[in-house]
Amino acid sequence: PKSAASYVEALLASYPDFPKPDILFRDLNPVFADAVAFRAIIDDLADQHRGRFDAVAGIEARGFLLAAAVGYAANVAVLAVRKGGKLPGTVLTEEYELEYGSARLELEIGQLPAGSRVLILDDVLATGGTIAATSRLIDRAGYTLTGVGVVLELTDLHGRERLGTTAVHAIMSI
Ligand code: PRP
Ligand code: MG
Repeated sequence: PKSAASYVEALLASYPDFPKPDILFRDLNPVFADAVAFRAIIDDLADQHRGRFDAVAGIEARGFLLAAAVGYAANVAVLAVRKGGKLPGTVLTEEYELEYGSARLELEIGQLPAGSRVLILDDVLATGGTIAATSRLIDRAGYTLTGVGVVLELTDLHGRERLGTTAVHAIMSI
């Protein structure tokens, strides 16, 4: 069988100057839209940390596609880390930097037992701001971060360095 990385390499699309000038947009939708490729990346993400997580945390929006499927494949709980202002009740909030301005990510408290081992999933690791904010949410919620799984890592943005000693698995790095 072909590796998950080979599917990503074959199907990844790149769009210069989207959504703004000088941004090279990486589009993973063709990977998700190919049933065999999608299964390969989900199995890869589930296998990398197999037996070491009790839940997956998917980051809105594109991380949701991965977390739901990996949670099902690994038979574990699924947490939705949402953009600011979407969640009711008592929520934890973390700000993170965007190219211009900042944004917020939020997590509801009390969804899992204290100490639950959580795997963070997202499509792309770029500057690492999004995943760093999510890791702070996991920590503040009383859970243990097992690691991070992404489909694509953009190495020239050095996001991995912002995540300290966290075990980061990227299916493909460019
Ligand atoms: C994109 C991507 C990652 C994040 C990576 O999400 O899906 O979540 O940026 O960037 P970073 O490592 O520099 O933080 P985006 O915020 O565009 O939103 P979306 O997933 O809702 O499309
Ligand atoms: Mg995203």
